[in-house]
Amino acid sequence: MHAPSYVPKTRFERWLDTRLPIIRFAQEHVTSFPTPRNLNVWYTFGGILSFCLAVQIVTGIVLAMHYTPDSSLAFDSVEHIMRDVNGGWLLRYLHAIGASMFFIAVNIHIFRGLYYGSYKAPREVIWILGVVLYCLMIATAFLGYTLPWGQMSFWGATVITNVFSAFDAIIPGFGSAITGWLWGGFGVDNPTLHRFYSLHYLLPFVLAGLVALHIWALHVPGNSNPLGINVKGPQDTLPFHPNYTVKDAFYISCFLIFYSYFVFFNPEFLLSPDNSIRANPIVTPADIVPEWYFLPFYAILRSIPNKLLGVIALFGAILTLLFVPWLDTSKVRSTRFRPVYRWFFWFLLADVLLLGYVGANRVDATLSNTGIPLLLLGRVATAYYFLHFWIIMPIVGKTETPLPLPDSIAKPVLSAVPAE
Ligand code: HEM
Repeated sequence: MHAPSYVPKTRFERWLDTRLPIIRFAQEHVTSFPTPRNLNVWYTFGGILSFCLAVQIVTGIVLAMHYTPDSSLAFDSVEHIMRDVNGGWLLRYLHAIGASMFFIAVNIHIFRGLYYGSYKAPREVIWILGVVLYCLMIATAFLGYTLPWGQMSFWGATVITNVFSAFDAIIPGFGSAITGWLWGGFGVDNPTLHRFYSLHYLLPFVLAGLVALHIWALHVPGNSNPLGINVKGPQDTLPFHPNYTVKDAFYISCFLIFYSYFVFFNPEFLLSPDNSIRANPIVTPADIVPEWYFLPFYAILRSIPNKLLGVIALFGAILTLLFVPWLDTSKVRSTRFRPVYRWFFWFLLADVLLLGYVGANRVDATLSNTGIPLLLLGRVATAYYFLHFWIIMPIVGKTETPLPLPDSIAKPVLSAVPAE
């Protein structure tokens, strides 16, 4: 699948093309890049994610002009941004709520990939880079949450950095050494805030570099599509511009309306009220609850009684995703043609939502009106998560009979259009 080659038209274009073929690059990789003609709304989330990253970087840079990463000043500097800086409240809400929007989009993007088998050959590297991007997003969001130096910032950082001390059970002193190294002292304190700020500023640029690799890897085989079949010829594709630039712009606008609702009408909904209280190392909040996008992982961590095994399960849950291209043994890509796996896909989604629910509640809570302990539900959901990827996915892939695949992308798309 190759874009038609670029022919420079003006003298300037010919001159530039032999020195820096940037217009050729843009034409081949953006404007006329051949894109399957049947991409649906779920394929706009990659563009939405790129937009989210840009918003986080721009708002973050301006916030950094007013923020002070010192434990005695950080909380007040955020209050100063909210009250005194022109448009500061907007910048801060765009950034803090933008993190949640970023995670909503990435979760949809991952589940889109799982549904349409986007990770299957020859797109394994796109997927692996995606998992690395996801890990970096988690790290960046965690570091950023510490910066306002509120109660949840401080205690969240304390709980999560302590997770590493679990490795003491393997090599005595090793886990504590990592924790001390992360802290830069004997607890979460000023040196911790300084290094977290430095890394929080750095990582989004690493993310941006990895996104470039992610898209480069995507442009080698080209996009997959909801039918999961390969592009057979030019009749199956459309140039990226204007077809998908307009479609992406439309869905980014819809996403912006959703985002704006929280920024302008319900800003505190996605933020923790405890973080409006200045960090106090001698008063622990009644409940330390992470941000919603960490809740399924938090539930996995808490569902295992042994600290070390809990931490291994937590990391294992993310690392499992790296193996998905090889765990899925099905011959067809898209779940649309997989009558059995389709059910398991929805079970997995329900399972992750259940884990999120369990993570949001106290460890000793019960399911309302039933008396079923949430701890038990969390354990079952954790077991299902691993069972899904390591057992069900390979077995169903080998045993199910997929539905017949269409001959080409163009056929079902064009046959739906009445003949003129
Ligand atoms: C900062 C985060 C990310 C950005 C900016 C990003 C961006 C993109 C873009 C622009 C595309 C092409 C459009 C589309 O198919 O939606 C894409 C495709 C893809 N992404 Fe991501 N992505 C991110 C994270 C992830 C993650 C976490 C995963 C999976 C773990 C992932 C897996 C994929 C796959 C497999 C494709 C190919 C889709 C196909 O052709 O079927 N991405 N991504």
